[in-house]
Amino acid sequence: MARVICVASVKGGVGKTTTVSNLSSIMSKMGYKVLAVDANITGANLGLHLGTSSRNILTIHDVLKGSVDITEAIYKHDLGFHVLLGGIYLNDLDNVKLGMLKQKIDSVKKEYDLVLIDCAAGLGDEALNAIKASDELLLVTTPDLPSVADAYKLVEYAENNWIPISGIVVNKEENQKFKDITVNDVEEILGKKVLEIIPKEKFVEYSINLKKPVANLYPKSRSGESFRKLAHTLIGKEYYRNESFLEKLLSFFKKY
Ligand SMILES: Nc1ncnc2c1ncn2[C@@H]1O[C@H](COP(=O)(O)OP(=O)(O)OP(=O)(O)O)[C@@H](O)[C@H]1O
Ligand SMILES: [Mg+2]
Repeated sequence: MARVICVASVKGGVGKTTTVSNLSSIMSKMGYKVLAVDANITGANLGLHLGTSSRNILTIHDVLKGSVDITEAIYKHDLGFHVLLGGIYLNDLDNVKLGMLKQKIDSVKKEYDLVLIDCAAGLGDEALNAIKASDELLLVTTPDLPSVADAYKLVEYAENNWIPISGIVVNKEENQKFKDITVNDVEEILGKKVLEIIPKEKFVEYSINLKKPVANLYPKSRSGESFRKLAHTLIGKEYYRNESFLEKLLSFFKKY
């Protein structure tokens, strides 16, 4: 039975979709059966991150209109995991019943080890229905006070509704330091653990333009490595970094 993890934030553009595309690919490579769900109903773009056009395919919108079975709208991605993508047209939104999401996700939970839900920003109906369909929340924030303060609303909502929070991802960290707050500040304000800090890197933008997760396209980048560490932490597995030949040589000499 899958663990359903909702990747959520109140502030938009912090990196939820980037996190879902990378974790899906990494966790699938680790041998888990993964389903990535685009539950950003009004702004679906997981398909763009993954190079899978949502044109001429069945989508989560069709599922939430009740016109197709969820299994008909799930496709296998080249990177090994399964995807349930969103429609990209305005009329895809007609007659969508957001309240059906939990029941639809529950119906396929037994087929997977992990279901990763790409949530809409904020605390509107589409975000709340995605959260209600999940077993736990992974909060994404950028390292600035407005984003962290916004994230606190999600912490409050989760606590009021007894929804566990797996932890915090701080994305777009610049120059290996936080802009105006520290990692301790984030943990203190939100009362939750920061699981991983993902650097702001051009590689992430390049890989989104090339429609592949950065962890696949630039596996040696710091961001790719951070997403791999995050995947291991979430699953509770030890992460071993593949050292380059030069790094092995340097650590050998450091011993003497
Ligand atoms: N670590 C990073 N380094 C550099 N740029 C990044 C990084 N993470 C995300 N971005 C940039 O931020 C943009 C927004 O990321 P993403 O779409 O993942 O955010 P989101 O939280 O899903 O947004 P929304 O709230 O609109 O759904 C991306 O298009 C990418 O250009
Ligand atoms: Mg998004």
